[in-house]
Amino acid sequence: MKSKTKRFGILTAGGDAPGLNPAIRGICKAAHFEYDMEIIGIHDGFAGLVEGRGDLLRPSDYSGIIHKGGTILGTSRERPFKDPEKVKQLIYHYNKWELDCLVCLGGNGTQKRANYVRKEGLNVIYLPKTIDNDVYGTDMSFGFHTALDAATDAVDRLHTTAASHKRILIAEIMGNSAGWLALYSGIAGGADVIVIPEIPYDINKIGEHLDERMKNGSKFSVIVVAEGAKSVEEADLSRKELKKKYEGQPSAAFRVASELKALGDYDTRVSVLGYIQRGGAPVAYDRMLATQLGTKAAELMAKGDYGNMVALKGMDIVAVPLEKVAGKTKEVPHNHIALKSAKLAGTTFGD
Ligand code: F6P
Repeated sequence: MKSKTKRFGILTAGGDAPGLNPAIRGICKAAHFEYDMEIIGIHDGFAGLVEGRGDLLRPSDYSGIIHKGGTILGTSRERPFKDPEKVKQLIYHYNKWELDCLVCLGGNGTQKRANYVRKEGLNVIYLPKTIDNDVYGTDMSFGFHTALDAATDAVDRLHTTAASHKRILIAEIMGNSAGWLALYSGIAGGADVIVIPEIPYDINKIGEHLDERMKNGSKFSVIVVAEGAKSVEEADLSRKELKKKYEGQPSAAFRVASELKALGDYDTRVSVLGYIQRGGAPVAYDRMLATQLGTKAAELMAKGDYGNMVALKGMDIVAVPLEKVAGKTKEVPHNHIALKSAKLAGTTFGD
């Protein structure tokens, strides 16, 4: 039996991102202290909901975690809506726990799954987290700024060693469908070439840019490549064809390095940043954003305003209906001002 006014379940799903703990704290503190609600912390994302793994959270569970990376709830990439049996189990546990709402924290995939939860007739609220910043319908997702600082620091470090050895250092930055992290860390780190999925690259143009720099006296270069970077030829391939082409192949930065090698006498080295970008303590911006999104989520639950994503729009935190945004990706727009200013500051995108 419920002892409080409302009870909700909270889960974190998909790849982790710094800011999940501040968001959990923000939601739970507001829900418990301001709105007198009970909270079930669900373990390991949708896997925990399907399997009925969750505990009643006490204030001590979500206190003292604002500065911590990762997620105290654990996460997984479980996709329950691919299996009707799992959907049944998910609904069963929602009802068994007598939830008034399910709060889902995650990226694009979680946004889609939260919308499926809504379509099943359950109450849901979704919060956008991802280091990729590609969640549609919000100006910013938490996790992005922390990853951006880590990636920019890495590009800075590659700069000094590239300059000392007069080499071309290639950094591979996370981001499969969208190049926000590569673009922003590349610009902030002063990269000479930035390659993102939204702008297919021509290796010849990159080679010309490197040659031009050499001719002008810059004996080293730094290239930032997003995980999902594609060449002009690859841009015409379907997702399936690309997957087949890349099977057993090294990742994007290595592909760019070997294409440069085939082009000329370029002395390249590759650094794949990988999960270093996702780990560690959230920066202040992500703590702020996550806290504001979290407290707004609690407010929406108190009002019974369900079926929404909580989003940042300008300086405001707003509710956006999930049905309007689920299933879309926020890519870097071709008219994004950052692209123009990077070009004016001497960076090429290989286009
Ligand atoms: O969505 C976040 C992200 O880190 C992407 O940038 C990356 O492509 C992917 O997750 C990696 O996924 P996994 O954690 O499953 O290896």
